[in-house]
Amino acid sequence: MYLLYTVIASLVCYLFLKWMKKRTYYTDVKRLDGKTVLITGGNAGIGKETAVALAMRGARVIIACRDLDKAEKAVREIKIRSHNINVIHMELDLANMRSIRDFSKTFLQREKRLDILINNAGMPSVLDWTDDNFSMCFGVNHLGHFLLTNLLLGRLKESAPSRVVTLTCSNYKYQKLDFQDLNYNLLPFFTYCRSKLANIYFSQELGRIMEGKGVTTYAVHPGYVQSSWTYHYSILFQMLMKVIMFMFFVPCESGAQTVVYCAVSEEAANHSGGYFIDCRPATLRPFARDAGVAKKLWEASERLVKLA
Ligand SMILES: NC(=O)c1ccc[n+]([C@@H]2O[C@H](COP(=O)([O-])OP(=O)(O)OC[C@H]3O[C@@H](n4cnc5c(N)ncnc54)[C@H](OP(=O)(O)O)[C@@H]3O)[C@@H](O)[C@H]2O)c1
Repeated sequence: MYLLYTVIASLVCYLFLKWMKKRTYYTDVKRLDGKTVLITGGNAGIGKETAVALAMRGARVIIACRDLDKAEKAVREIKIRSHNINVIHMELDLANMRSIRDFSKTFLQREKRLDILINNAGMPSVLDWTDDNFSMCFGVNHLGHFLLTNLLLGRLKESAPSRVVTLTCSNYKYQKLDFQDLNYNLLPFFTYCRSKLANIYFSQELGRIMEGKGVTTYAVHPGYVQSSWTYHYSILFQMLMKVIMFMFFVPCESGAQTVVYCAVSEEAANHSGGYFIDCRPATLRPFARDAGVAKKLWEASERLVKLA
């Protein structure tokens, strides 16, 4: 009898986990020949899988990374897996505003097109400071991408129709922004949630500003993904997360699907400024749809990154 109970319990668990990890795969093979794609942090995790998927469709793919050894290795892998040799890396540290400005300058000198910008790089819940004294999550996840996108906006407009896809996280809902303390750096998980909420407001406001200019924009929650973010933590935590991720999180390839969907699909083009999960538009909590807050964050961010 016990054996029967064990078998039934195991089967229920197995089916539950299978259901939890069920994800839509974006199978449309629309070609991207002649298009240029820029992916921040494309050397690992979801960014690397996105790079493979877009290079397979024929795009020129540039991964912007802070660690050149990792970047070179990733470029080799992306080329082999995508059968596309038009993949390169460039140096970019989103925790340093000088690096972002230098990167953008070089990019604009070298690249005549920018069809798809994927703001993918991200720091998990850590308490640290960027070189410019911003809290690490807010500085890298939001401000870094805010400055980068603004510096490249001219090239995106020239390449229209073009797209900006920004990785966020459904954890945005656990926090609100505090405009008295945008640089909040107290509880690690909350710093992460706030930075991901900022990503959503950024994407919405960018959508509004770019309305009618041929640049569309999307915020994507990729799901909970077995990527490499745990390397920022202790070995013990990494071991624990390995087990949890194996059971409940999806592979990086699955995590990249909604990013690719937003970068490529015709359906997504009609939902600029939207929030996407599992290859379809999703509904945000009302406070995350507040256009007034999005505008206020945009203006505050312009001041913080000294964008004239
Ligand atoms: N994994 C999840 O479950 C999950 C869930 C929701 C949202 N997301 C979001 O998905 C995005 C991708 O994350 P992931 O899960 O693929 O994580 P990951 O495997 O840790 O990859 C993050 C990438 O960002 C890069 N990066 C970090 N700081 C950077 C900096 N200062 N300058 C330039 N690049 C930097 C990393 O480079 P290094 O290799 O040099 O560190 C790495 O390439 C993030 O925005 C994350 O918030 C992930």
